[in-house]
Amino acid sequence: MSEKSYHMTPAQFREYGYAVIDWIADYYKDIGTLPVLSQVKPGEVRQTLTPGAPRKGEAFTAILHDMKAVILPGVTHWQSPNFFAYFPANASGPAILGDLLSSALGVQGMLWATSPACTELETCVLDWLVSMLGLPEKFLSTSKGGGVIQDTASSSSLCAMLAGRERATNYRSNRQGCDGRLVAYTSNQAHSSLEKAAMVAGIGLENLRLIEVDQQFAMRPEVLARQIAQDGAAGLVPFFVSATVGTTSSNALDPLPAIGAICRKNNIWFHVDAAMSGTAALCPELRYIQDGLDLADSYTFNPHKWMFTNFDCNCFYVADRKALIDTLSILPEYLRNQATESGAVFDYRDWHIPLGRRFRSLKLWFVIRHYGVEGLQFHVRRHVELAQQFLEWVRQDDRFEVAAPAPLNLVCFRHRGGNERNTMLMDRLNTSGDLYLTHTRLNGKVTLRFCVGQTNTTQMHVENAWKRIQEEAGKL
Ligand SMILES: Cc1ncc(COP(=O)(O)O)c(C=O)c1O
Repeated sequence: MSEKSYHMTPAQFREYGYAVIDWIADYYKDIGTLPVLSQVKPGEVRQTLTPGAPRKGEAFTAILHDMKAVILPGVTHWQSPNFFAYFPANASGPAILGDLLSSALGVQGMLWATSPACTELETCVLDWLVSMLGLPEKFLSTSKGGGVIQDTASSSSLCAMLAGRERATNYRSNRQGCDGRLVAYTSNQAHSSLEKAAMVAGIGLENLRLIEVDQQFAMRPEVLARQIAQDGAAGLVPFFVSATVGTTSSNALDPLPAIGAICRKNNIWFHVDAAMSGTAALCPELRYIQDGLDLADSYTFNPHKWMFTNFDCNCFYVADRKALIDTLSILPEYLRNQATESGAVFDYRDWHIPLGRRFRSLKLWFVIRHYGVEGLQFHVRRHVELAQQFLEWVRQDDRFEVAAPAPLNLVCFRHRGGNERNTMLMDRLNTSGDLYLTHTRLNGKVTLRFCVGQTNTTQMHVENAWKRIQEEAGKL
C-alpha cells in the first residue's frame, strides 16, 4: 500500500506544467491588447479572493482559472510592448525557462559546497559579462576582483557602502559600530537606494551629501571636491562616493573620470551605479558612458532591467574582493567545510547580505546563449534607435519641449502648457490603457518620461504611443 500523500504526482506535474506553459505563451500572444496599467481600485483584488485558506486542496485547473479571473485584472503589464514607464524590467523566453529550471533544482547556493555548479556558472557568466560589456579587467574573477549576482542594485550599493565603510575604518565599524564621522557622497539625482544604504549602513542621512548637478543633471565634480575638502577640514571622514551612469529621473551620466580622480586623491571608495544604462555597453559605440570606470572600486548594473532577464538579477562587481569578503564574512561552525577551508573556492554568501541564494545565473546563461552577443546588441540598439526617433518627433511638435539630454533609451519631455497639463495628459493616457508612461520633476517642472526597453516593443508601438500622446495633447 502506498503512503498517503497530497503532493502533485509527476504525471500531474507534466500535465499542469504544459498547461502553464500554454498559459504563458497565450499571455504573451495577447499582452499587447491588454490595458497596460491595471485599472483596479484599492482593495478590489482582495475582495475577489476567498477570505480564508482552503481546508481541502483544490483542482489545479481551478487555481489556473483564477489567474485570469482574479489576478490578471490587478496586474500592470510590465511585459507589454506598450510599457514605457519607469525603467523596463524586461523578460524573455529563455530567461523564463532558465528561471523555471532554477526553481525546479531548488538549490541553495550559499557555499560552493552546497552546489558547485551554482557558484561556478555564476563566476563564468559574470566573467563573460566583463568582456561583453567592455568592463575593466580588474572585475574578472581571475584578477583580485570579481562579480556576484545579487537581488537588486539597492542591495549591491549597500554592500559597496559597507565595504567602503570597513576599508575606511580598518574594520572597526563592524566591531564597534559607526562613530558618526563617516561621510558619503552622491548627486542629488542619484537613486533613493543610496539614501536607504546610508540609513541601513549606520552612516545616517545627514552624513550623505547630495551634490549639486549641472544643467544636464550630472554631478558637478568641482562641488564634490570642495565638499570633501570642507568635510575633511571639519574632522569628518569622507569614505564613499557613488556616481550614476543613467540617473533614474533623466538618464544623466555623471562624469566618472573626474569623480574617480577625486576619489583616488582622497582615498575614497568609488562606486558606480549603472542600474539600467549599463546594458547599453553591450554595444561598443555606446561604451563611452562608462569611461572612467577603471577608477571604480565597485560597479552595479541590472540585467533585470534592460537585458531580457526577468527580475531579479543584479550584477555587482568589485575590484578587490577581499575588501568585500572581509566586510561580510562570518563563518559559523555549521557552515564549515573542506572546500571553504581549502581557500580554493568562492562562497558567494560572503559577497552579500543574505545567506541563502537562488541559482540566478541559470537564467542569465540561458539569455546570453540564446541571443548571443549579436542578438543582445541588436535589440538594445533597436531600443535606442526607437527612443531617438521619438525624441525627434517631440522636437518637431511645437506643443512639446525636450527636458533633458537623451543619450540612450529614455526621453524626458513636457507639454509647454505647465505642470497641471502634463499631469492631466499622463493620467489620461495611462487610464486609457493604451500605453503607460510615468513622470518626474526636473528643476521643479513636471516632466514625462518615455523609456523604450520592453522585449517586444517595435516601431509600431512607439508610433502608436506618439499618436496617442498627440491626440490627447490636442484635447487638453
Ligand atoms: C539608477 C538606479 N539605481 C538603482 C535603482 C534601484 O534598482 P533595484 O530595484 O535593482 O534596487 C534604480 C531603479 O530604477 C535606478 O534607476
